[in-house]
Amino acid sequence: MLGRIGQKLFVALRNLLDGGLIFAAKRQIIRRYQPLFQISKSTEPTADLGDRACADRWQVMASGLPKSSYSLLDVGSQLGFFTLSAARENPSGLCLGLERVWTYAAVAEALRNRAKLPNAQFAGLELNPKSVRGLPQFDVIICMSVFHHWVLDWGAEAAITQLRELFARGRIVYFETGQCEEVDQNFAAQLGFMKPESELWIRSELLRAGFQKITVLGDFPTHLGPHKRRLYRAEREA
Ligand SMILES: C[S@@+](CC[C@H](N)C(=O)[O-])C[C@H]1O[C@@H](n2cnc3c(N)ncnc32)[C@H](O)[C@@H]1O
Repeated sequence: MLGRIGQKLFVALRNLLDGGLIFAAKRQIIRRYQPLFQISKSTEPTADLGDRACADRWQVMASGLPKSSYSLLDVGSQLGFFTLSAARENPSGLCLGLERVWTYAAVAEALRNRAKLPNAQFAGLELNPKSVRGLPQFDVIICMSVFHHWVLDWGAEAAITQLRELFARGRIVYFETGQCEEVDQNFAAQLGFMKPESELWIRSELLRAGFQKITVLGDFPTHLGPHKRRLYRAEREA
């Protein structure tokens, strides 16, 4: 048992560490793909938001989440923007972020502590063709802008198998990926299997996974170029 003084010391040390991690992310010492949850202000210059704004995507995602307590998995959660946003709306449900870069997961935890959202948890863990098979079922899975990384890492066949395993574990899935249309990006050459159109390939994968209701939530800009990525929400009947 820590006792009262021990607990206060623990919290003080944790606050100090959290402050250091958040400072490092603010200064882009730890890369900020996402804005800092409840810290970055949308009114500030874009540079403060990180490489990619997230509020635009969250705005269209939020209304499609279950109304009562739910479990959520955010794969490739980076600084935890979506995991934390969901945890704030879903106080009695568990929201889990998986992020293979441990410094990103550590910043997400620091932001979680600041926001006092103990129902958001982060694991500095890689989802790979083996570990995906150990995942349980979730009410909601977020898989955004990570699939094309898997294609580069493991090749198309293993990445697609991993995606199918992941889709099988969600009742509602939010899916967005790098697309074959992003011709000036290094990953596009590896996404030939999406041709002639990523739209057709993504829809066929979602249908194959058994989702009956597929909705396009919009096309959203990235920091990489003019091409906007399409965000899908897919749901299967319970
Ligand atoms: C381009 S960012 C997208 C972040 C977030 N999903 C979004 O859309 O704003 C990709 C993130 O996924 C992480 N990532 C990529 N592959 C992963 C894997 N196999 N397991 C866990 N994290 C992964 C990267 O480290 C990075 O933080």
